Amino acid sequence: MSGFSAGWLDLREAADHRARNKKLAHALARHFDGWRPVTVVDLGCGTGSNLRATAPLLGPEQHWTLVDVDAALLGAAVERLTAWADGADRQTEKLTLFKGAKRITVEFRAADLARDLDAALGANANLMTASALFDLVSAAFISRFAAALAARKSAFYTVLTYDGDQRWTPEHEADTALLEAFSAHQKRDKGFGPAAGPDAADALSEAFSAAGYSVEEGDSAWRLDTEDAALIADLATGFADAAGATGLVDVATLASWRGITRTAAVVGHTDTLALPPKG
Ligand SMILES: C[S@@+](CC[C@H](N)C(=O)[O-])C[C@H]1O[C@@H](n2cnc3c(N)ncnc32)[C@H](O)[C@@H]1O
Repeated sequence: MSGFSAGWLDLREAADHRARNKKLAHALARHFDGWRPVTVVDLGCGTGSNLRATAPLLGPEQHWTLVDVDAALLGAAVERLTAWADGADRQTEKLTLFKGAKRITVEFRAADLARDLDAALGANANLMTASALFDLVSAAFISRFAAALAARKSAFYTVLTYDGDQRWTPEHEADTALLEAFSAHQKRDKGFGPAAGPDAADALSEAFSAAGYSVEEGDSAWRLDTEDAALIADLATGFADAAGATGLVDVATLASWRGITRTAAVVGHTDTLALPPKG
């Protein structure tokens, strides 16, 4: 159990896919144009959302390894990916998906990135990718991670790293106080040491640039409105719960903040594409 439920990941998937930065997605597709096969490792895969959004950008033959510490989410990923594909063939160790003209083999690896990064990454892959993961990790982990990818000469593409910006409609006078408390909560240890939280995208950019990669970033904010009412309600509850857990906001202020139904929200994210030096 990682604390992330399949239900929460289902709820956010459409907003995640919509928010992804198009320019970076095209740059990724251009980089891998003509590669056959492409090998990919998805870190902290949850139920496989990142594969469903990224596979359409890559070539007709893909080999994916989906890594997560949570075995229940890996099980849910098998189900969700099978339902997403036009056809699927399940063997003991491997799932083969047919989607349009693409043939995608998928292996599943239960591993803890924080405890054994090399085992989680495996020997090599053309692309290491992740979605909504890197704000959970520490700055020290990001340095180790960039070095591990540079040793493998893998490209790196990560999407939806939370950047610290949250705006709610309607506004409330305690929005800033809650955001400060929420940011403090974001920096708590999520299993990797003190989390980089909103500083993660900058730390990734610095670490991969120092390793000689060419790094590009793009905005991938959630811009949620009435169509996303269920997600907004869930987010507002989680936001107030996390802010409250820090003890930095008093009970009456929290109750007043919770008393409003939000109709729109912006949550800032950054996508990062880091391509290894040629040769
Ligand atoms: C916010 S969820 C994102 C899931 C998925 N990538 C998505 O975009 O829907 C973070 C994921 O990271 C996984 N995770 C957290 N800590 C981990 C660790 N130490 N090792 C491997 N996976 C981890 C969680 O189990 C969860 O699936």
